[in-house]
Amino acid sequence: MIELAPSILSADFARLGAEVQAVVEGGASVLHVDVMDGHFVPNITIGPPVVASLRKVLKVPLDCHLMIDRPDDLIPAFAEAGADWISVHQEACVHLDRTLHLIAAHGCKPGVVINPATPVHALDEVLSLVHHVLVMSVNPGFGGQTFIHSSLKKIELLSKIRESRRLGFRIEVDGGIHRDTVADVVRAGAEILVSGSAIFEQGNPSENARQLLKSALDAAKQPVQDLSSVVGGSAAGERGNSLSLP
Ligand code: DX5
Ligand code: ZN
Repeated sequence: MIELAPSILSADFARLGAEVQAVVEGGASVLHVDVMDGHFVPNITIGPPVVASLRKVLKVPLDCHLMIDRPDDLIPAFAEAGADWISVHQEACVHLDRTLHLIAAHGCKPGVVINPATPVHALDEVLSLVHHVLVMSVNPGFGGQTFIHSSLKKIELLSKIRESRRLGFRIEVDGGIHRDTVADVVRAGAEILVSGSAIFEQGNPSENARQLLKSALDAAKQPVQDLSSVVGGSAAGERGNSLSLP
């Protein structure tokens, strides 16, 4: 199931309620909330009070992407504010297993995120614990950056691992998703598509959401492509013989 998760990072915060209602009308079924602390990433955004305000006006799941150090300290506050999904960066968590259990213990769906420089196999031991894996296709911290194509082979590899290990996590992608990149990420296996600037920066957010979701759904109907032509190598080959893939 393909879902669009607009990132409010690029929304007009003075009109946040209207902007999020518009994207839901355009077909968005998840709202992505980027939380930055000025330490883990070089930018500061929003915290639990904004999540609490969004919760009052929205029924769709609030997908809180924590780009923060020491996320354990703030997970209870985000859960209390009404977050449905909470994801943490593998790179920020010394005790990742504990942090994912903490999210679940607070009644939220746990997710794990990897930066462009982090390999998929860094998640081997936690894939059975998570509701979603978020593959960053830009270096986190800012909207409007250029899509990093090597993320495609990571999405493809996650999809294959999920199948071979019979796991149930969903695959989300974040960064540089717009009409020129959405088909590639969907064909690679991404199901939850985060998009910020392409939705909110120009034109009508509702119509932008509708168009992007339509492009994604059209791509999902097409046969899976050979990604080696896009990323310059076989995704499965990256793992050598260490994993038996279908
Ligand atoms: C980047 C954030 C993204 C960002 C995506 O650190 O995690 O969610 O808002 O913005 P675009 O779609 O403009 O790349
Ligand atoms: Zn994000």
